[in-house]
Amino acid sequence: MTRIIDGNEVADGIRSELESCVETLESAGVTPGLATVLMSDDGASETYVSMKQRACAELGIESVHAELDPTEPTDVLLERIDDLNADPAVHGILVQLPLPDHIDDRAVLERIEPTKDVDGFHPENAGLLVAGEPRFKPCTPHGIQRLLAAADVDTEGKDAVVVGRSNIVGKPMANLLIQKADGGNATTTVCHSRTADLGEKTRQADVVIAAAGYPELIDGSMIGEGATVIDVGVNRVEADTEKGYELVGDVEFESAKAKADAITPVPGGVGPMTIAMLLYNTVKAASIQADVPVSLP
Ligand code: GUN
Repeated sequence: MTRIIDGNEVADGIRSELESCVETLESAGVTPGLATVLMSDDGASETYVSMKQRACAELGIESVHAELDPTEPTDVLLERIDDLNADPAVHGILVQLPLPDHIDDRAVLERIEPTKDVDGFHPENAGLLVAGEPRFKPCTPHGIQRLLAAADVDTEGKDAVVVGRSNIVGKPMANLLIQKADGGNATTTVCHSRTADLGEKTRQADVVIAAAGYPELIDGSMIGEGATVIDVGVNRVEADTEKGYELVGDVEFESAKAKADAITPVPGGVGPMTIAMLLYNTVKAASIQADVPVSLP
């Protein structure tokens, strides 16, 4: 029987362990605070940001929300980030991506104070991760690492294939998998849109992490018998539903499930973990800035 890895259950466990960290901070007079910045009319981005705010409220993290008109220039967004950097009640800053095409993403991510960069996208934090001394692990790859551990999938000595080379998931995921640390020590291959024969790479993998952003790119014929399959994709495809679309992953679930030993569903797999690890990083940011030690889960 293929195991279905339940992201909601693992995320609930992490959130409940974070409660005692928040209590420790509260008793030292510190309420963790997260600022979310939205500069987009995209419905999916709006949904993600409101899910993040709701999760903060449930854990006792104060959330501040900044919404900018998507036609504003980069400077206006940078000024808003300066204000949040200077606000002592804000311990974490998350600028929801993607940003409009005219915005200089790099300038924006570099403007966030690195100790408030709960996404872990600032070059200083990306560098610390590559150096093997992560401060804030990017939320989705960190969540995947926790999902694998919770499913008793030991990556040490295994062949892992990451499909996708984004700065948000693919690259930091590969960096975590090659670390000489728990949840790492995997022989890791990163595949992308120019990979000559994707199926040939994924079929030999013990762990496949699909983060390409293409609906059902990977089917059962591309999965080796007994592999673990982690599906990061959340793709809206047209469908005869009330909303006019349905969500599908980067993996064709049924055919991949027939081959895999363990697999994450979409939704209910990686998604809830991304939010749980954002809460984790926000609590960690508050702990660092207030110099109040907490026992992170
Ligand atoms: N858009 C998609 N994933 C992410 C993420 O992890 N962080 C931010 N800020 N934006 C995203």
